[in-house]
Amino acid sequence: MSMNAPGLTEDQRNQAFSEYVGDESKVEPKDWMPEAYRKSLVRQISQHAHSEIIGMYPEGNWLTRAPSLRRKVALLAKVQDEAGHGMYLYSAVETLGVSRDDLFDDLLSGKAKYSSIFNYPTLTWADIGAVGWLVDSAAIINQVPLCRCSYGPYARAMVKICKEESFHQRQGFEIMNTMAKGTDAQHRMAQDALNRWWWPSVMMFGPPDNESKHSAQSMAWKIKRHSNDDLRQRYVDVMVPQAEFMGLTIPDPDIKWNEERGHYDYGDIDWTEFKQVMAGHGQCNKQRIETRQAAHENGRWVRDAALAYAEKKAARKAASKVAAE
Ligand code: 3HC
Repeated sequence: MSMNAPGLTEDQRNQAFSEYVGDESKVEPKDWMPEAYRKSLVRQISQHAHSEIIGMYPEGNWLTRAPSLRRKVALLAKVQDEAGHGMYLYSAVETLGVSRDDLFDDLLSGKAKYSSIFNYPTLTWADIGAVGWLVDSAAIINQVPLCRCSYGPYARAMVKICKEESFHQRQGFEIMNTMAKGTDAQHRMAQDALNRWWWPSVMMFGPPDNESKHSAQSMAWKIKRHSNDDLRQRYVDVMVPQAEFMGLTIPDPDIKWNEERGHYDYGDIDWTEFKQVMAGHGQCNKQRIETRQAAHENGRWVRDAALAYAEKKAARKAASKVAAE
């Protein structure tokens, strides 16, 4: 029985909806959906979109200081991709009946959440390698399962986004590997960047499962496909051998292969830092929102010009239609 069928009670629709997502079917914008499902998607996808936009700032900082034309072109392409990811995801949220302007207002006012990872500073060029390698690897591990999300527009947006993340991760890995195997000074810079970006990247996957307030329901609705800790463990298992390959040391003395578990054991995460950053007290929270506010203001003339052009074009079209009648 379809959840869209006429004459069903709320309970019957909810039952039909659970069976529908349970069968791995995709929910589309015009389908009936529980209001709580819609709200959870608006929450997660809007935060994801905000993360993509704010995520441009740590790297944008280095566009004019890239050490070579090749590095500059790769970083430029990555930053442009992130803007596109943001637009894709804002479009996915709009299919749930939310206005893009309201989403922008939430971010500009500091009300909206975005990923904690983007509230850390990029102090040297090696940080750009660390962000591409560590953060985009985390993004891939977190986002590939979202290609199987029950909400169609989100799942389809993630397919394109994940393909581009692979390039982002690769260019970051190459920067780190080149520096790690470069001069002593370059190796030290790469190690320093890993020391500062490792734990914030591990925190990106969200709070521990026993403190994750959305996971259970999100997984029941097949929005989230794996728990925070499962993806975090997958991440550590992938990253440790890569660091070893580069001759870099992960700043966690407790990292050790556990044959019995078939995973790497790792040390305790400082959740106080995570909560501090989430509460807006990270190193760059204030600066990131101020940069976003300035960019929005500086871009006002572009939006006004595009709107004026669209209105003029629509008026001309209406006038020629009247003339033709
Ligand atoms: N930073 C900020 N807030 C976070 C967070 C993080 N790293 N992890 C969790 N939170 C917040 C949640 O938003 C939620 O707050 P809310 O109730 O106010 O929305 C709260 O902490 C509880 O966390 P939960 O685990 O219960 O929340 P979720 O089930 O939503 O799981 C998530 C969190 C794993 C981040 C999930 O939302 C998700 O997978 N989101 C989509 C992917 C995403 O947004 N990735 C962020 C980075 S984007 C990126 O990396 C771009 C790349 O190009 C570099």
